Amino acid sequence: MRKLLIGVSLLLLLFVSIPIFLLASGTTDSSSLRMLVSSIVGIAGPAANSDVVRQQYKVPEGFTLELYEADLPRARFLLFTPAGDLLVSRPYSGDIMLLGRDENGDGKPDTRATLIEGLERPLGMDISDGWLYIAESNRVSRIHFDSDTGTVNGVLQPVVRDLTDNGNHWSKTIRIGQDQKLYLAQGSTCNICEEEDARRATLMRFQLDGSQPEIIATGLRNSVGFDWAPWNGALYATENGRDLLGDNLPPCELNQIEVGKFYGWPYFYGDNIADPDMGDDPLAKNRDPTAPVHNFRAHNAPLGMTFLDADTLPPSYGRTALAALHGSWNRSSPDGYKVVSLHWGDDGIEERDFLTGFNQNGTISGRPVDVAQGPDGVIYVSDDYAGAIYRVRYGATDNNTAAAFAVPTVNRLDTQTPEWLNEANMTTMADQGNALYQHYQCQSCHEQGENPHQLENLNERLGYAAVIDVLAAPPSPMPLFPLTQSEQRALAVFLLRQPHTNSAEGR
Ligand code: HEC
Repeated sequence: MRKLLIGVSLLLLLFVSIPIFLLASGTTDSSSLRMLVSSIVGIAGPAANSDVVRQQYKVPEGFTLELYEADLPRARFLLFTPAGDLLVSRPYSGDIMLLGRDENGDGKPDTRATLIEGLERPLGMDISDGWLYIAESNRVSRIHFDSDTGTVNGVLQPVVRDLTDNGNHWSKTIRIGQDQKLYLAQGSTCNICEEEDARRATLMRFQLDGSQPEIIATGLRNSVGFDWAPWNGALYATENGRDLLGDNLPPCELNQIEVGKFYGWPYFYGDNIADPDMGDDPLAKNRDPTAPVHNFRAHNAPLGMTFLDADTLPPSYGRTALAALHGSWNRSSPDGYKVVSLHWGDDGIEERDFLTGFNQNGTISGRPVDVAQGPDGVIYVSDDYAGAIYRVRYGATDNNTAAAFAVPTVNRLDTQTPEWLNEANMTTMADQGNALYQHYQCQSCHEQGENPHQLENLNERLGYAAVIDVLAAPPSPMPLFPLTQSEQRALAVFLLRQPHTNSAEGR
């Protein structure tokens, strides 16, 4: 292996961002090398050597970090099957991938396959009694799943229908509790408002066949992750605090969920502070909000959380959960972008860094979404920005061959010009795109407000395919707009035409 690495080091010098991990994992024939090179053209990735990576990404003493799988665009939620394979949901491509367990010990999944596709923005998953439950944005369904063969059979059977997925926070999280009930978390449609659909911004519970729906907790703006503490069965949920109250307000929350309680949104935030936009609302009166048990820093966006089985971990991980902080979008300096460990102790919950390094002075290389622990105790983290799954092992020898990995490169530029792009129509399309941009008031978030997410020089970051992806499945808090395919294309042309400043030019 060493000879091989020396042999290709000249090539490595030419293409500074070629990930060593792929070379080390045996994919060194010239065609895959070419593929690799073509997939990174146009991006100045960081130099790929394991020392750099070890300096950039940090895990606590005694743990080692590896890149388990790369090139898995917008990987969101994780679930281990009883057989030890890893399921990965990808709402943006509408599929669930199955990464076969690493039985040959090379530090990578042995297989990779699409388990099921054509889904409506799937996020949450769970398995019970031979059924795989899947939460799409508008329903929860189940399908027969054979864990031994890693295959589904039969058709998807809806168990919870007619969920709403308009506005922001359309994704749905599900988990099956020890009580054999199906728990469902749904976010709010908006940043701050009264909901029309009483099921939004709540946690619900059903029988496994979808019957007997109950709203068990309300006032949860967007609780993407929840789990039960293994030592006492208490249910905890992360919650994303509201936007547009400045860099440091309000905190994101961890709530202990108890049946029948109200957790504050939209009238209160953090430790029951009246929200300046809603606090005087008569509807806020006579409410008795339950305060969080832990505050995350503002805008850190905690998503997936999971309690750890500490058997294979050091004693300090006894009563511990890991939470993935996706990172801020409306903060003047980015914050979050890491996995933290939450330790339950006599004095409450202590938050410590667990996996950091995705934010290097404002340059973002990854965004953690979910955390799962494998049957062997090993911890896995998904990253929807780098399109990667990381593996964190305790007490593993830091084997240079298996552990060597590079920061995955992020390429959202087109590899080829889309076939629908027609020079002759560019101006018309751009005008139509501009009109749509005004009509849907895209500028309200992209040009105005405290820290607008700037779309200038977008064409240095995104290609047509990537912009259309964003419009088809927008990142929270951007709402889903009812755009036709040709409208999406027109907006993309408007946004990517060089030089694009902003709509002020067109006014
Ligand atoms: C409610 C606020 C909001 C509105 C309205 C909104 N967006 Fe966004 N949009 C965002 C945020 C926030 C992000 C970045 C999210 C992130 O990266 O976490 C984003 C991301 C994007 C991106 C990707 C940018 C990048 O740097 O990767 C594009 C393209 C985009 N929006 C286009 C639009 C268009 C076109 C419209 C109108 C049709 C629109 N947005 C309306 C909030 C909004």
